[in-house]
Amino acid sequence: MKDHQSIPTVLTSRRNFLSKTAGLAAAVAAAGVPASIASARPARMAKSLPDDFSFPPDFYWGAATAAYQIEGAANEDGRKPSVWDTFCRIPGRVKNGDTGDVACDHYHRFEADVKLMAELGIKHYRFGISWPRIIPDGRGAVNEKGVDFYRRLTDTLLQHGITPHATLLHWDSPQALEDRYGSWRSREMAKDFAEYCSQTVKRLGDRITDWMTINEIYCFTYMGYGVGQVPPHAPGTIVKSRKEVLQTVHHALLAHGLGCQAIRAATPKPTRVALVVNFESYIPVIETPENIEAARKAFVSEEHNGTVLVPALTGAYNAQALEALGADAPDIQAGDMKTIGQPLDVLGYNIYTGSYVRAAANARGYEILPLPREYPQMHMPWLNFVPESLYWGVRMVSEALGKKSLPILITENGCATDDTVTAKGEVLDLSRVMYLRSYLRNAHRAVSEGYPLKGYFHWSLMDNFEWSWGYTRRFGITHVDYATQRRTPKQSFRWYQQVIKENRLL
Ligand code: BGC
Repeated sequence: MKDHQSIPTVLTSRRNFLSKTAGLAAAVAAAGVPASIASARPARMAKSLPDDFSFPPDFYWGAATAAYQIEGAANEDGRKPSVWDTFCRIPGRVKNGDTGDVACDHYHRFEADVKLMAELGIKHYRFGISWPRIIPDGRGAVNEKGVDFYRRLTDTLLQHGITPHATLLHWDSPQALEDRYGSWRSREMAKDFAEYCSQTVKRLGDRITDWMTINEIYCFTYMGYGVGQVPPHAPGTIVKSRKEVLQTVHHALLAHGLGCQAIRAATPKPTRVALVVNFESYIPVIETPENIEAARKAFVSEEHNGTVLVPALTGAYNAQALEALGADAPDIQAGDMKTIGQPLDVLGYNIYTGSYVRAAANARGYEILPLPREYPQMHMPWLNFVPESLYWGVRMVSEALGKKSLPILITENGCATDDTVTAKGEVLDLSRVMYLRSYLRNAHRAVSEGYPLKGYFHWSLMDNFEWSWGYTRRFGITHVDYATQRRTPKQSFRWYQQVIKENRLL
């Protein structure tokens, strides 16, 4: 389970909150895989991919960032504070009292950063748009100077042949709306978000056609509101009941639905609209039909997926998850679920880790297996090395939710590593190369079995402000020296660059 916004002094666990083709069959047999595993594989047509781990020619290779984590320029050109600007200033909430005031200074260095992207060879870039830069008070007047920054950025991207994919909200919602009505505790937030989407798309929709409404609803709701305890995530409000937390989830889903409608109404060009979800992945510990069925059950009914991914894709909360919530279930108004279940053009999947499951003779029919203490972990307490999570997450969207042709983009995947620059000025982040190779092997498996995985955005293009961990955790394939803002491509950058160039796993 991911607990990435908590720092050890605040909370230690996120849980606290709460038929294959003949060709493949032959390959399976040749690999000595038992018949029971082969029969557990899906009855899908494998894509005729060459067996050198090539990806389809139209597969998107990209990298991702988020506004608050890289832009800096917190008080420039009319931007007003977001909830994260405020949260960073509460003693003890963010390591070392770090803030996003300067971050990677991308606001001033975006041209050099786009050149870096071109050097990497990506043709797709996912970035965040800052709501308090566009509408500083959260509602009302649009700050055209803020919009201009994204015009400059997207023009530069397009000049380099890079398609912009914009996330309208990656957690930095306006502080003014927290002050006015408590952000996600109010339904007003969904309406204000939709209006912000509309104003932004009207102005930038001539150059951006790939939109993502909201990043990871789970994090700023479940982790932004703590029942009787300090939550690790902005706005950081302590609430009295779980029902209040679930209500924030409902309002965020509503914001997404109204946002989709607003984008489609405002766009001057055909557009693709996505929601970005960090849904949980459950891996059958041994690939037998029984364990795969167990993974399927866990996928839809565990609380996180059952209250975020399932309603967004199907227009209804998972019945078992709702039942488990009992009186804590959110209040739902007439028409809400239809709005929430807007058809999506793309599903964005942020995948870092996962949980192993097996069939069990209990009421649920499955059990989630605890990881042993020595289980391999990257440089983050929640980031266990579970590469199969990527494949199983993608597969379950088809298999457990029936969304067999909904295009999926991996909108984030990566890891923190404890990088140091050598005397020669290199960063040899070989553990990141190991991580990427293993996760991308699972992306290749998903594509070759015919699941609709269409692209991969690495998190992140560069080291950045890692939320409550401040600058103490590095997720980039580019090292950033925060004192000088010098960018140094790491070994993983060179590896990914070659993968992109050859369009195959190396
Ligand atoms: C978030 C990023 C974050 C990354 C690593 C994702 O959940 O969207 O903003 O930096 O995880 O924690």
